[in-house]
Amino acid sequence: MARVLYHPEWGYYAGGAARVGRAGDFFTSVSVGDCFGILLARHVTEVMGLLPGDGAFHIVEQGANDGRLARDILVHLRLLLPEEDFARIRYAIIEPFPRLRKRQRATLKEKFGSQVVHFAGIEGVAGKCERGLFLSNELLDAFPVHRVVFETERWREIHVVEKEDGFGESAGDLSDPRLTAALKGLSVAEGYRTEICLAASEWMREAASIFGRGLVTVIDYGLVEEAYFSPERNEGTLRGYREHRLVEDLYDGIGETDLTAHVNFSHLARSARASGLDVLGFCEQGRFLVGQAADWMGEIEAAGAPDARTASLIRQFQTLIHPGMMGRAFQILTFGKNVGTDAARRLTGFQHAGEGAAGLG
Ligand SMILES: C[S@@+](CC[C@H](N)C(=O)[O-])C[C@H]1O[C@@H](n2cnc3c(N)ncnc32)[C@H](O)[C@@H]1O
Repeated sequence: MARVLYHPEWGYYAGGAARVGRAGDFFTSVSVGDCFGILLARHVTEVMGLLPGDGAFHIVEQGANDGRLARDILVHLRLLLPEEDFARIRYAIIEPFPRLRKRQRATLKEKFGSQVVHFAGIEGVAGKCERGLFLSNELLDAFPVHRVVFETERWREIHVVEKEDGFGESAGDLSDPRLTAALKGLSVAEGYRTEICLAASEWMREAASIFGRGLVTVIDYGLVEEAYFSPERNEGTLRGYREHRLVEDLYDGIGETDLTAHVNFSHLARSARASGLDVLGFCEQGRFLVGQAADWMGEIEAAGAPDARTASLIRQFQTLIHPGMMGRAFQILTFGKNVGTDAARRLTGFQHAGEGAAGLG
């Protein structure tokens, strides 16, 4: 999966082709329009309020694709913030692929010049930012997973094998001792298949080391552990998508098919706590955006009858929050470092979080 997605030349994400949006393979909240960026810009201003300081405030984004979310956030921050606060913002994009870095520069350079900087990997940013916010939308679902199956009362790993006419699968020994640890105590029926994303915990450790004081906000589709390993999810969550359709054979169209697996949010939260972060908030994207949009909605109402641009933003908002569209499938999880757990109360996005972080187990 790592090679299929990340090979520097042939990997699915390395190519210059548009993967996101109508012409690509899947939609994201960013591709819906700039409403998502407008509301996340408001989240940024709240985080800035939690982390006062005279030096730079870093927004670090990973998985920025063509730079659209960065642009939408920066455009709206410029409207929301006093000039001297906006001037303190540095937008750091973590982007390993040169072709995407080029596209991001094309989207951002003219308007935001040296305020936007690039890093090839998350390890390059570690310890470089005194205060800031890390953001990612649909990054972790692209991380490679290990597939496992419970056979004759023990866990085996599903290995990819080369065959005369392509690729196949074969159950063998677990290739990494961390898999044994991750699967310990998990009780499932014979033949149960699932995935473990070791890359997510490694990534979490690195994300935790970015800031002296900061927040990490992750948006993705996924499940809490109880649902992730529920008896009926016995085929796991790894899927392939091409041109907005589910692909039956994961080995068909290698490098041209998006491979993706749900995020195990409970596992991520455990990794975050082990890396010294606090869990500040967790809820469905719809709930978060409704909470975050309270002031914005007030401003729209106060402005009177909506013009065409406002009407379009409201339609985007509905798509982002509707439970049958993007509101329920996506979750938002925010961690804090050196901000205290009380900070959560000052994040308006989590005001309707319901069970919230308690649901992570
Ligand atoms: C599903 S797309 C989401 C794109 C964008 N965030 C959006 O919401 O439209 C996943 C993105 O993550 C990027 N990506 C995956 N692994 C990455 C990594 N280790 N570092 C940086 N970007 C990565 C891919 O290049 C791709 O742009």
